Amino acid sequence: MASRVALVTGGTRGIGRAISIALKDAGRKVIANYAGNDDAAKAFEAETGIATAKFDVGDFAAVSEVVQKITADTGPIEILVNNAGITRDGTLHKMDEGQWDAVIQTNLGSCFNTCRAVIDGMRARSFGRIVNVGSINGQMGQYGQVNYAAAKSGIHGFTKALAQEGAGKGITVNAIAPGYVDTDMVRAVPPNVLEKIIARIPMGRLGRAEDIARGVMFLTADDADFITGSTLSINGGQHMY
Ligand code: CAA
Repeated sequence: MASRVALVTGGTRGIGRAISIALKDAGRKVIANYAGNDDAAKAFEAETGIATAKFDVGDFAAVSEVVQKITADTGPIEILVNNAGITRDGTLHKMDEGQWDAVIQTNLGSCFNTCRAVIDGMRARSFGRIVNVGSINGQMGQYGQVNYAAAKSGIHGFTKALAQEGAGKGITVNAIAPGYVDTDMVRAVPPNVLEKIIARIPMGRLGRAEDIARGVMFLTADDADFITGSTLSINGGQHMY
């Protein structure tokens, strides 16, 4: 596969880590973004040889600056995976403005920030592969997650709109909607609640990060040039949409 530059946000841990590794193994030049966990990023770099970049995906100016630097130092970003995401769960009647703003800005604002920073370059070269990681909870809602469900649902709309804009320019834009995957984020769900969720997954288990990476590889392939605006659900059969 062509050695294209790929930026994976939230790319050093959880689902993003598996995506970064899979892209590297396929011959891509990967840059894995992370927000705060320096120790995890250092360990990831040492283990995989993948370069990391620390910045806040919710910060428009920071994203633009880093994208310019990557373009100058490594080359134009031709594959973008918007994977970074956080949860601040709580029922609406207990949720404060900070929980709402943080999730909307990090999970959805980030898609605007990164896509805006790379889109001119992709349009100029008539090539781009963008994958936005949504969620089963953006498709069907989830008790305790009005913020997260709204952001992830927003990602699905964002994807379909940008797909239409990119179609004439060789840029594909797709979403993946993971179900419950075995990561730190999902393990933070109270055990009694998680148990009930797993009981509703027909496959009878949590997903693996590699299950999601497999979808990203499919959608970012050079010859995946007729697949755009789609949502690939990878959820063990929990929600068929
Ligand atoms: N549907 C209906 N009722 C529910 C419910 C559900 N899914 N979950 C909890 N309840 C009910 C409880 O039974 C309880 O009712 P009673 O008071 O009558 O007993 C009431 O709601 C309060 O429940 P909690 O004690 O759990 O309330 P809490 O305020 O302590 O916590 C919560 C609420 C934060 C939402 C907690 O239940 C929770 O963390 N739930 C999990 C949310 C979740 O699935 N998050 C996904 C994170 S992973 C992710 O987001 C990745 C991805 O993309 C899939």
